Amino acid sequence: MKQYYVQRASAGLVITEFTSIDNDAITFHREPCIADDAQTAKWKEIVDAVHAAGGRIFCQIAHGGRAAHPSYQDMHRGETAPDEVKFIASIANDFGLAYLHVMRADFFGQQKGDVLTPARETLKGPALVVNMGFEVDEAKEGVAAGRFDAVAFGTKFLANPDLPARIAAGAALNDPKADLFYTGKVGDLTYTGPEGYTDYPTLP
Ligand SMILES: Cc1cc2nc3c(=O)[nH]c(=O)nc-3n(C[C@H](O)[C@H](O)[C@H](O)COP(=O)(O)O)c2cc1C
Repeated sequence: MKQYYVQRASAGLVITEFTSIDNDAITFHREPCIADDAQTAKWKEIVDAVHAAGGRIFCQIAHGGRAAHPSYQDMHRGETAPDEVKFIASIANDFGLAYLHVMRADFFGQQKGDVLTPARETLKGPALVVNMGFEVDEAKEGVAAGRFDAVAFGTKFLANPDLPARIAAGAALNDPKADLFYTGKVGDLTYTGPEGYTDYPTLP
């Protein structure tokens, strides 16, 4: 993990993967925790290494709650999303948060309606960070037009440790190896090795 995050230290801000604050509320297979002193000390090694590489990093602390698997959730709520995002954006204003992250769609095609416009209209103060399937040009245009303040690249950063340098150079991007997301696979075997994790090439 340290190698993975250090490779991506050129990001404006690295937001780590979902990291449980409770050893008894694991939601995903091999999910990291920051629930006891030993785990916290290990995270500090990662944070220190990213700082040493010139990066900034936040730990995404999380508690899985009922988010264990989409089939456990009520994800069929259709057009209510824009109203909910307005509600959440107004709470973000009240709490003086640094930013609100809004995904414009979900992984399963369940979310309907435009959630970015109501978020932009409601949010006063916190930066609006968005994502889900953004191409680089679309991200640049949206920021320039003020539709949002930043894009949090997921799969593109996973597959391109030097994503900012590639964007600056207008270089081609590596394709993500989706069959290796969350794990490595060789034939029928799964393992937690570097393939599809820390072996994506950087620009020469
Ligand atoms: C393999 C994989 C693991 C992910 N893990 C997390 C996670 O731990 N926490 C999180 O907030 N988002 C996670 N995401 C979602 C991404 O951060 C991002 O929101 C999503 O991929 C949409 O952005 P994109 O279209 O740029 O990939 C993950 C995505 C992928 C593909």
